[in-house]
Amino acid sequence: MKVLVLGGAGYVGSEAAWHLVDRGHEVVIYDDLSRGHARSVAGLPLVEASLHDGAAMRAVMGDERIDAVMHFAAYALVAESVADPMMYYHNNVAGSLTLLGAMRAAGVGHLVFSSTCATYGTPDTVPIPDHAPQRPVNPYGYTKLIIERALADHARAYGMSFVALRYFNAAGAAEDGSRGEDHDPETHAIPIALQVALGQRDRFMIFGDDYPTPDGTCVRDYIHITDLARAHELALRRTGPGRGLFVNLGTGHGHSVQQIVEAARRVTGHAIPTEIAERRPGDPPELVADPGRAREELGWKAEITGVDEIVRTAWRWHRAHPAGYADA
Ligand code: UFG
Repeated sequence: MKVLVLGGAGYVGSEAAWHLVDRGHEVVIYDDLSRGHARSVAGLPLVEASLHDGAAMRAVMGDERIDAVMHFAAYALVAESVADPMMYYHNNVAGSLTLLGAMRAAGVGHLVFSSTCATYGTPDTVPIPDHAPQRPVNPYGYTKLIIERALADHARAYGMSFVALRYFNAAGAAEDGSRGEDHDPETHAIPIALQVALGQRDRFMIFGDDYPTPDGTCVRDYIHITDLARAHELALRRTGPGRGLFVNLGTGHGHSVQQIVEAARRVTGHAIPTEIAERRPGDPPELVADPGRAREELGWKAEITGVDEIVRTAWRWHRAHPAGYADA
């Protein structure tokens, strides 16, 4: 297939794009490079344009004879969405609707969409099944849920085909250490712990140790980006006219913030001092996937489930590229 990868220069998008190439697909990267890195997709065709530019998207889809779209082009930080919701609604909702319009106009009917466990909010039960009620607790989660609804309606009314993948916590780096996480500012737990190990920060702030979890710190399901990338290619094969699917992508295992710091200490051999800080707004206590539907519908299962292995790949990337892609 020939796949247009929106947000393909981002952390997850670039990994998925390279995996598609490995599997024999053709890709065109479409990214405004506001948060992505051209170096992460060096050698792949790249269109530098905006998610709000429907005419540009339509033109690329027509000129390049695109068969399917993968849409990673979103802002994805919970705290930022709480502080500046309009930025999130504009990019994640308005931008995605512009994309859906461009796909209809260009006659492209297949989409793999990056959704999130943040659509569940604070779940009633953990692990969270794919059919659990969706009650987001932050603007980011709402923006993704709105597009999930729009996709279901597009499938019903226009015969569009989609798979929406609800990621849990994307983590880790390419196995060879050539690609990894590079956000500015960095807000994610694993890269921050590794920045402390590198001496770029003096301590790791634990946001809350009074949650109703075994050690009082938040529990997340960390899923390796190569496992995520593989799920996207499998999802591509499952798209079909009028068919829509919502799928959790997680390992089914949770790790607390405290356990992440301990894993980072084991992997790096550095002390990683911590300090307890206030809870971060918008953080649910525990998010762990029941990945049952991904197994049944996509034949997918996470291969990397050990948090040490995830941290090990991230460490290889951060150690080799202490300034991120500026060092690549
Ligand atoms: N954390 C700290 N200290 C830090 C950074 C993070 O204690 O310096 C904690 C957070 O409070 C949270 C956990 O570590 O409990 C994981 O935080 P991340 O920022 O790494 O990840 P999030 O769970 O906030 O976010 C991820 C994705 C989002 C997605 C969200 C769903 O990045 O896109 O999961 O909750 F929406």
